[in-house]
Amino acid sequence: MCGIIGVVCQEESRRIAEITVNALKRLEYRGYDSVGVASVSSRGIEVRKAKGKVDDVVRIKRIPELTGFLMIGHTRWATHGPPSDKNAHPHTDCKGEVAVVHNGTIKNYRELREELESLGHKFVSETDTEVIPHLIEEFMKRGMDSFSAFKAAIRALHGSYAVLAIVKGERKIYFAKKDNPLVIGLGNGMNFVASDIPAFLDETDRVIVLKDGELGYVTPEEVHVETLEGNVVDVTKRTIVVTWKSESVTKGGYPHFMLKEIHESPVAVEDTINGMLSDMETLTEAVKALAEARRVIVVASGTSYHAGLYFHELLLSEGYNSLPIIASEYYTVKANPSDVVLAISQSGETLDVVQAVKSFKTKGAKVISLTNVIGSALARESDVALYMRAGPEIGVAATKTFVSQLASLALLFSELTGSFKEEIKKIRSILERTIETYEGISKEWGEELAKKSNAYYLGRGLGLPLAMEGALKIKEVAYVHAEAYPAGESKHGPIALVSPGFPVFFINVDKSDLLLNNHAEMKARGAETFAISSNVALGADHEIVLGLSDFLSTFAVAPIIQLVSYYAAVTRGYDPDKPRNLAKTVTVE
Ligand code: F6R
Repeated sequence: MCGIIGVVCQEESRRIAEITVNALKRLEYRGYDSVGVASVSSRGIEVRKAKGKVDDVVRIKRIPELTGFLMIGHTRWATHGPPSDKNAHPHTDCKGEVAVVHNGTIKNYRELREELESLGHKFVSETDTEVIPHLIEEFMKRGMDSFSAFKAAIRALHGSYAVLAIVKGERKIYFAKKDNPLVIGLGNGMNFVASDIPAFLDETDRVIVLKDGELGYVTPEEVHVETLEGNVVDVTKRTIVVTWKSESVTKGGYPHFMLKEIHESPVAVEDTINGMLSDMETLTEAVKALAEARRVIVVASGTSYHAGLYFHELLLSEGYNSLPIIASEYYTVKANPSDVVLAISQSGETLDVVQAVKSFKTKGAKVISLTNVIGSALARESDVALYMRAGPEIGVAATKTFVSQLASLALLFSELTGSFKEEIKKIRSILERTIETYEGISKEWGEELAKKSNAYYLGRGLGLPLAMEGALKIKEVAYVHAEAYPAGESKHGPIALVSPGFPVFFINVDKSDLLLNNHAEMKARGAETFAISSNVALGADHEIVLGLSDFLSTFAVAPIIQLVSYYAAVTRGYDPDKPRNLAKTVTVE
């Protein structure tokens, strides 16, 4: 939530604004309530910011006209104070000589604000962030140099933060990180600090991933990092060269990232499977831990939770003891040292998941993580870090990463039990064929669902997590209210809402014999039925029969439900890449 970028270069020019604007577009998926930048030039600090989306704010505030030798920028997902011009970042001190952008939550901001106000500082926003520039100003007023003042300000904060600060007249961007992601990009004659790598991928592929408790500054030539305690850290050995291509963070001719990323899932899955198999040592370690576990606690949020439920269903089918848990409800589970936790998160930064894992670790449980971001908070917290290689996902709704999660979990299960070895090799081609064959039908279904206000998604066994994902996706991007149920449960209440024309979507990839009855029950009430079936047709009003095994059908279902939601959103005139009120990475409680 919230995207931050900082760029510092040797020459004073407009290029700095061009790079920052480009980065803000790449970061917009992290929040789109407001946008702002601050530049430092020989004239001082200039701030331009407003409520609204990147393209609009950039145009209205004429950001490309700014020159400078450094610039910081921010896209906001509001936590403290509603989206507004004055709550937009950057925030400044009383004199406009310090500017700050922040991603995170400062828990003690009220106390700090009262104290600073009593010292005469004037606040203009309702944000927690605004205490930071005033703290820096206060410490500088007391005689500290700017870096010491920055460090003192950071030490005063309780909460989570990725912070950038700039000071009038200085060719330096100060940064600090705790519980929110921050990466440094090493360019030629310029350096970058950002929430994530895609922000500066056009400029450099050389990256340093910062750790919690690290702070420092970048200049055009230098990166200085130290710990909160003041120990200097040599980060040169931590430089990695990322293999993500710059094209992977552009729309590449597609109207939306969501559509592009659905089309990327075959390659994402292939890269994921090959990547996991190329690190057999880690995979074997994970499999060993799962095999020895008395109980597997599967923990995740949102779409990743649905992937986790899929793994849970697989484990149950072989008699393993597994407990799926929505990450934000972690405190309901008493973990112990014989448990193994499997934590799944695309971003690896979701606070609910990270907190759950930290808590389970204190009870002695071993943690395996599955993430898409190397060096993410979750990966660092885990004993065994498995990585998907789905590439960057810019659309807010998870699509290719969901399919890659299913594939990685299927591979993990296959290594654990010896099943599905041959079928896993076919997933890529099944996905390619599915998208090619069924995109047209998915579009028609999406256009039909776009006319409805409510829908049910029903499934059994392995089909249930996919039904849940189908309902989540159409809610998220098309704002069609949808609920998912185990199909057999639908007659215990949900069926009361079904009247002629009510859409009911069946994910018929497991227990088709039982779903036939559930479908008949819905038809008897006049429901308009849609079904994706592996082999046995339900006789739905709209039906795709895949002609695949149940196991392979689960993979084919994923892009179809995503395409249906995409086309429903577009038909309704919504931007599926930026669903209202959502952010891609949720780093608040
Ligand atoms: C759904 C979606 C969210 C995320 C959830 C967890 O399309 O994107 O529900 O799945 O916020 O995010 P990660 O996987 O990053 O932990």
